[in-house]
Amino acid sequence: MHLEKREQLMLDGESGEAARQSMEILVALGKIYGAQKMIPITSAQVAGVSYKTIGDAGLEYLQDLATKGAKTIVPTFLNPAGMDIAQWKEMRVPEEFAKKQIAILEAYSKMGIMKTCTCAPYFIGIRPKKGEHIAWAESSAISFANSVLGARTNREGGPSALAAAICGVTPYYGLHLEENRVARLVVGVDFELKTISDFSALGCAIGEIAKDRYPAFTGIKSAAEEQLKVLGASMAATGSVPLYFVKSITPEWKVADDAEKITITETELKTVKSNLDSRERPQLVTLGCPHASLNEIKAVADMVSKRKPNCEFWVCTSRKLKEDADKLGYTKTIQSAGGRVVADTCMVVCPLEQMGYSVTGTNSGKAAKYLPNLCKQKVAFGDFEDILYR
Ligand code: F3S
Repeated sequence: MHLEKREQLMLDGESGEAARQSMEILVALGKIYGAQKMIPITSAQVAGVSYKTIGDAGLEYLQDLATKGAKTIVPTFLNPAGMDIAQWKEMRVPEEFAKKQIAILEAYSKMGIMKTCTCAPYFIGIRPKKGEHIAWAESSAISFANSVLGARTNREGGPSALAAAICGVTPYYGLHLEENRVARLVVGVDFELKTISDFSALGCAIGEIAKDRYPAFTGIKSAAEEQLKVLGASMAATGSVPLYFVKSITPEWKVADDAEKITITETELKTVKSNLDSRERPQLVTLGCPHASLNEIKAVADMVSKRKPNCEFWVCTSRKLKEDADKLGYTKTIQSAGGRVVADTCMVVCPLEQMGYSVTGTNSGKAAKYLPNLCKQKVAFGDFEDILYR
């Protein structure tokens, strides 16, 4: 594998121990995947932020790296943490958990990483352009960056994204190479997809079928970014799909001649939705997996101002958009209806099971997939309005 002089010096330890250790990770990855060289990146997104997912071992690893002087050299931002940094006490997050979570954020901050704590950085202005090389680590954000924005990232793990952020490069293989960005599964959708839960269920179904192939959808007439984010997030959760195309909507379209062709019907989609739903009445209804856009927060505020729900509800989003929602009065409207705009975290990576909940509602295929195992929740699945007033 060819290394530029600067990269070789890093590997030789000239830029310090943290950079040496990081370049070693990148070179090892490059060798495994047959990369010929490194490619400079314009941003990195680091996952492995919640204390719930990385535990004490992860915290110690990060503190060790920060003590060794690790510093990121490209704009780098964080995936959601395990709690809302401002509201954790009201939300009944255990104090011991909170202490560890704060220590994790401090370690990342020492390395120069922005505490954005969002899985939808594209809604707060972090939008790499088509063809830009990046190293992102959150599966739904990877899917959005590759598919909707046309940027280029592999499915990085937490440590490899952090190593790329410290070295400013990533191994040049996989989805960084034009020739690999080819769909091998064509999915015809022969009916109109209307709601977020429709796109979520489609993603859940196709993720399972596609596995590691990239799907190309035909027949989808229009799709808002909020719908594309759940489509990608669900496929990344039930399969390992980091890239998809939607004919005439996403910026790329390249299909292999021998691609398998399938069709999904409205009846099949109804079955998928029904299978995701326990039909229980939720104690907590959540929106924002991936994190909600300002449009979604506004829509919830409008809805609950007309009719008060009879259960607790959260709208999960980034700190930046929560602040915008505060200024625009959406947060106050949501609070008056018994809800909460939750920042920095989400229903899956917070310790929901330790906070007194056992049945949670979601319109997200990704959350529906993870809530039972990661949070010991029964899932009420459907459109936000339907489960909120169930
Ligand atoms: Fe984001 Fe949490 Fe869903 S990190 S994609 S809201 S599981």
